[in-house]
Amino acid sequence: MSYRLTIESLDHDGRGVAHHEGKAIFVDGALTGEVVDASPYRKKDNYEQAQVERIVRTSATRVKPGCQWFGVCGGCTHQHLHESAQVAAKQRILEDCLTHIGKVKPEAMLSPIHGPTWGYRTKARLSVRHVAKKGGVLVGFHERRSSYVADMHGCEVLPPRIGRMLPAMRALVASLAIRDRLPQIEVAVGDTVAVLVFRILEALTPEDEDKVRAFAEAHQVQVWLQPKGPDTAQPFHPLDAPPLAYTLPEFGLSMPFKPTEFTQVNHGVNRMLVRRAIRMLDPQPNDSIADFFCGLGNFTLPIARRGARVLGIEGSSALVSRALENARLNGLDHLTRYQVMNLFEMAPEILAALGRFDKWLIDPPRDGAIELVKSLPEDGSGPSRIVYVSCSPATLARDAEVLVHVKGYRLRAAGVANMFPHTAHVESIALFEKQAAGVSSELLPDSDAVAGPA
Ligand SMILES: C[S@@+](CC[C@H](N)C(=O)[O-])C[C@H]1O[C@@H](n2cnc3c(N)ncnc32)[C@H](O)[C@@H]1O
Repeated sequence: MSYRLTIESLDHDGRGVAHHEGKAIFVDGALTGEVVDASPYRKKDNYEQAQVERIVRTSATRVKPGCQWFGVCGGCTHQHLHESAQVAAKQRILEDCLTHIGKVKPEAMLSPIHGPTWGYRTKARLSVRHVAKKGGVLVGFHERRSSYVADMHGCEVLPPRIGRMLPAMRALVASLAIRDRLPQIEVAVGDTVAVLVFRILEALTPEDEDKVRAFAEAHQVQVWLQPKGPDTAQPFHPLDAPPLAYTLPEFGLSMPFKPTEFTQVNHGVNRMLVRRAIRMLDPQPNDSIADFFCGLGNFTLPIARRGARVLGIEGSSALVSRALENARLNGLDHLTRYQVMNLFEMAPEILAALGRFDKWLIDPPRDGAIELVKSLPEDGSGPSRIVYVSCSPATLARDAEVLVHVKGYRLRAAGVANMFPHTAHVESIALFEKQAAGVSSELLPDSDAVAGPA
């Protein structure tokens, strides 16, 4: 059975939204303004999910997907939408969330941050499955709407040399004695070295070891082995590779990291995001600044580079050790302190015990930072400025409601960063200010916006 639909809008997952006999229909692969024939694959009482069978009227924003596995691989959902339309859709989602969830309106919308849209993804977890009836080993992302591994031979969002390496990874794993005991290959690419972390449920045999060494040399990658949790990952071959690191050249910073540690995936967009965050925070030499959810110091060290004293707070002790090491390496340990703390268990007295800060930077995981913002004092002693970097517009909006309607901040500006092009992921940044007036317009950066996608 199929029905003809006119697509009214895109939902937060990039699906076309239409109505049929009073019921909402979410259509994979359809774009706003299109007329499509679609067939349902899931029916619920109040909505249905459907897929496009035929496009009757095509949107001007529709483009040919850049990857031949688009539609099969579940890694990207937006490749059929022009890159500027993708960014516009993400900006609309941010505005919708702020309006409907947060009941707040930014005084200014920032121009979106664009960066490289292909070959950008420096971190990825590739699933590995030995499937005899598919003729061997699959290495890739999951298929769309399934837990099966997609039968893909390349990937356009991974750095090109990694994307092109998928057939060789498949052949390598297929040749190993432990091919049924290697469920994942994690990719981490730095400025000078690429690492593949093989998750192994059983030790490599001596013959397997020789094959993996030969692979690492032939493909100029460093292979790590991870027998158990992320902390057990260790270099296997070569042992003398340069450390994995990304750089923030504008701040003269080099940031070494372990392949299993959190880093922002799109190094180009991260540089612009850090620049924008620092410009909005405007650290001054006498400032005392808190960087909540600081990770390995991606914002902490640029803040310190501007001469401010900064306390980085983070839940992972491994990341705090890494952050301490990175501060020393970059000559900034005299301005930085770190603390391990579960920020989801925040309370006013715990927050007060951390001391008084002039400014905050917050960069939480998708769950947001509700306990932290609820713990802010309402007596005027809180930070004058908060820069909030978010990977979930819904939780940013929920937290913005508290900051604006309970804690007395103004939402001066908000905007998106296209950290994950061709996916539904929305990264955003917002500036909150305490005082009634006075943020200078140069803190609302238009001049640091880079050119849009080609
Ligand atoms: C989006 S990342 C940001 C990291 C860092 N600011 C960066 O740009 O690389 C969120 C960070 O929050 C940390 N985190 C997750 N849950 C936490 C919690 N309950 N308490 C404190 N930190 C937490 C993660 O370990 C991660 O480093």
